Amino acid sequence: MFYKQLQSFPSDFLWGASTSAFQVEGGADVDGKGPSIQDAMGARHPDITDFSVASDHYHRYKEDVKLFAEMGLKAYRFSVAWSRVLPAGRGEVNEAGVEFYSNLIDELLKYNIEPVLTLYHFDLPQALEEEGGWNNRATIDAFVEFSQLVFERYGDRVKYFLTINEQNVMILHGNAVGTKSESKKQAYQQAHHMFLAQARTMKLCHDMLDTAKIGPAPNIISVYPESCNPEDVIAADNWMAIRCWLYLDMAYHGEYNSLVWNYLCDRGYQPDFEEGDAEILKEGAQPDFISINYYATMTVAAARNDGNDVTFREGDQQIMYGEEGVYRAAVNTNLSKTEYSWFIDPVGFRTTLRQVWDKYRLPIMISENGLGQKDELVDGQVDDQYRIDYLKLHIDQMQLAMADGVEIFSYCPWAALDLVSTHQGYGKRYGFIYIDREEFDLKELARIPKKSFYWYQDLIKGTTQV
Ligand code: BG6
Repeated sequence: MFYKQLQSFPSDFLWGASTSAFQVEGGADVDGKGPSIQDAMGARHPDITDFSVASDHYHRYKEDVKLFAEMGLKAYRFSVAWSRVLPAGRGEVNEAGVEFYSNLIDELLKYNIEPVLTLYHFDLPQALEEEGGWNNRATIDAFVEFSQLVFERYGDRVKYFLTINEQNVMILHGNAVGTKSESKKQAYQQAHHMFLAQARTMKLCHDMLDTAKIGPAPNIISVYPESCNPEDVIAADNWMAIRCWLYLDMAYHGEYNSLVWNYLCDRGYQPDFEEGDAEILKEGAQPDFISINYYATMTVAAARNDGNDVTFREGDQQIMYGEEGVYRAAVNTNLSKTEYSWFIDPVGFRTTLRQVWDKYRLPIMISENGLGQKDELVDGQVDDQYRIDYLKLHIDQMQLAMADGVEIFSYCPWAALDLVSTHQGYGKRYGFIYIDREEFDLKELARIPKKSFYWYQDLIKGTTQV
């Protein structure tokens, strides 16, 4: 093995943890909040779990932040529920909603925890959805209005902003995360509108706030060819460009990745441009850093074009569909899997980080990485050694990537506390803090630090006392 001299993490490294609004807050219809598409999804799937309370973070954020401080977190990544502050998606401001995030930010700062604010994490206001959602260009203006409100009200205290969480997952796996489109053509039109919204927001952030930093937050992973057959290698390259580079190239260069643009035109999926779009995209390409969510790599082979390349299964963001003439999903037999069949690939994490750094040379934040598992509370304790093992392997690879020269300034695993999974209920847990509830029996929602909480606490203590 290539020997590496590991260096210690810098003392200002932002060890953090992540959540998103609809997955932790609850309080979906209190204090003037308007409905979002996620509330509607919860209502449509009452058989999976009780979405209404989530982890009740809306009412218990002080208790939660105190625990984050006890864990030693230096950063906490959360999202603002758009429809909590703008119930109809635009227009009238809900001051009670604005105050909630203001209080949350103050509470974090009280403990010297850096707030990392995601503007948009899967939860479009339902009012905008009813006007066509991201198919409608008017949603771009609404997003910019929302971003402006966020910058005005929190920009004095928040230094790190993320634009859109996993835009690529919303476009490619919308059925898993609640974003719908009727065709690929429509999905790429939505993507185009999101790109414009993101570009205008990055520009606005820099116009309004002198010291704030802003970046995109797609789900980025390396794609392996199934074999060294050159046709498999091209297929992997195709899928890497379509799944990942499109989104980072747009944020960084303000242009469509040329491989992907040709693919879109070839298939008739290319979005309609309006006059001025190209300039907006270019002008707004001002990321200060790149944030990535990483769970596992993917493996693909050349398409066989035999009618079986598309393996469509009802939605999970880790499932690949394949596409005639482009790629076919393959299985990587070198990797183990989680109990939810997600691959585990810590070395792929290092590869991914190196690729991103190589291409863009911007500092990297990891805004998600983690293990979803059915934890068990036994005698008041949760022994989640498997999560510790998973995180440790990934952190080791992150450190190796740093030794390779990759600039990484923050690691925010998923999740700070247990929360509702995007489509697999509450039983799929990711948190350092166990929330005592079942799918439908909400119990007392007590907060119980897991074994991984104390492990992370030790790790942070050990790496920051330099
Ligand atoms: C990411 C999302 O796709 O993966 C999170 O940004 C999500 O919102 C996480 O919860 C884990 O996925 P899931 O489907 O297990 O909740």
